[in-house]
Amino acid sequence: MKLIDGKKIAADLLGEIAREVNLLTAQGKRPPHLATVLVGHDEASETYVANKVRACHNCGFDATVVRHDVDVTQDELLATIDRLNRDESIDGFIVQLPLPDHIDEQRIIEAIDYRKDVDGFHPINVGRLALGLPCFPTATPQGIATLLDRCHISTEGKHCVVLGNDHIVGRPTAELLMRKAFPGNCAVTVCNGDTPHLEDLTRRADILIAAIGIPHFVKAHMVKDGAVVIDAGTTRLPVPGEPGHYRLHGDVDFDAVAPKCACITPVPGGVGPMTVVSLLKNTLLAATRPALLS
Ligand code: GUN
Repeated sequence: MKLIDGKKIAADLLGEIAREVNLLTAQGKRPPHLATVLVGHDEASETYVANKVRACHNCGFDATVVRHDVDVTQDELLATIDRLNRDESIDGFIVQLPLPDHIDEQRIIEAIDYRKDVDGFHPINVGRLALGLPCFPTATPQGIATLLDRCHISTEGKHCVVLGNDHIVGRPTAELLMRKAFPGNCAVTVCNGDTPHLEDLTRRADILIAAIGIPHFVKAHMVKDGAVVIDAGTTRLPVPGEPGHYRLHGDVDFDAVAPKCACITPVPGGVGPMTVVSLLKNTLLAATRPALLS
């Protein structure tokens, strides 16, 4: 069994991005600039945003965080998005999710100029990804595809089962792996926790992608011998007996499943670090090739 070291691969890729930024600035151009809109003080969101800002600074990007109180109105948030859409010093921006219940998340996403939507959540980017057109791919699926690429895992003609059908990970991952490209050219089955006889499907996977959001859901009997298992789960749970401390849990029962696999990603240290890399790749693309998406 080979452990896929997402942390190391992400660090290598961040180094490559930093070198590209150096080349840009050496030519007298300004560095890429990512803005993040953060509403309220949700602990997990604060951590994710701090990680994104740190990665930006490590790569030489400018990073701006625009904060709003948790009781911000939808109109105030829309006004911020309008300002960021028109601000030429900002190449791309994201609105950290989840948003408070009084705000219509989809309305906010659709207000973002798709040419600055480096999360790849806008319907134009989602549609372009499905059509194989230039776009900002959603970060986690792009991170998964990059991991497969960097680990030289062949996808051609393979059966890939994606467990989870949400719009952020499951569906766009299926779209990427169905493309006529590398990684791609897979036969893809998308299923969810309610799919009857689920293990009959998952056991047929050459590549199993777990994105269901239920810790340790994938057990050994659900996995074929020699499968590649990619765990996109990131459930944050309190550490028993350690108040205020949390640990990330994947969707795969790692200790039971790992011995059966050809390759597997751990949690943490697998898909997670790749997500930030994808966000920075999209921001670099927005800064250097804006015409690609017009
Ligand atoms: N919340 C958790 N993950 C993400 C992400 O990738 N993008 C945004 N905007 N919010 C998130």
